[in-house]
Amino acid sequence: MLPTPDLSHLKKKDYEYIYEPAEDTFLFLDAFEDEVPFLKELQPTISLEVGSGSGCVTAFVGKILGESSCLKYCTDINPKAARATLGTAKQNQLTVDVIETHLTDALLPRLQGQIDLMYFNPPYVLTPSEEVGSHSVEASWAGGIDGREVIDEFLPYVKRLLSPKGAFYMVVVNENKPDDIREIMKQDGFESSIVKTRLAGREKLFILKFVRSST
Ligand SMILES: C[S@@+](CC[C@H](N)C(=O)[O-])C[C@H]1O[C@@H](n2cnc3c(N)ncnc32)[C@H](O)[C@@H]1O
Repeated sequence: MLPTPDLSHLKKKDYEYIYEPAEDTFLFLDAFEDEVPFLKELQPTISLEVGSGSGCVTAFVGKILGESSCLKYCTDINPKAARATLGTAKQNQLTVDVIETHLTDALLPRLQGQIDLMYFNPPYVLTPSEEVGSHSVEASWAGGIDGREVIDEFLPYVKRLLSPKGAFYMVVVNENKPDDIREIMKQDGFESSIVKTRLAGREKLFILKFVRSST
């Protein structure tokens, strides 16, 4: 079992401003642990976590990928989260480039078609639309109608950013209608699978994986 990244530099107070790793985060780590053989074979040259929050997932995946071989990017819309991710990378002896931006805005068009590994634990909670678009801790969960507003905005970027061999992983809950998301991505030329699911209280969490269809 791979160790959970060291987050001891982040204090209770920090989690008033950034997302505290929770069941969804830990399910994501478990999924990536299962995906180690795939990731080792993939040998990504460039990876990107969208919405890195505390940096917990990036640090975990960074340890799997190793320090020298892969250029690791993260984005977050919350400046405090961007800072926390940098701190977590340092705490775990990793180098990452963290960019405060909306989704992947600051990386396009430069990284178009070049990202081998991309992952996003998005704000997926069903909320009124007006709550979407904050730059503070509310951005961690506020997903708007069906919890899909940020997810749906992001999906078209997957085909623009991923390299031909690239893989994209995303956390969703049942209320986000995972089958509908998979169908949208199918239309964009991706095959999908559910690599992990878990019941966490009332939430049924899924980790979806997308790769370009071979046909
Ligand atoms: C559910 S939290 C996940 C945090 C962390 N990756 C984890 O798994 O614990 C969602 C993260 O996405 C960020 N986020 C929300 N909307 C965003 C946007 N439009 N662009 C970039 N980041 C965003 C939030 O600030 C938050 O850090």
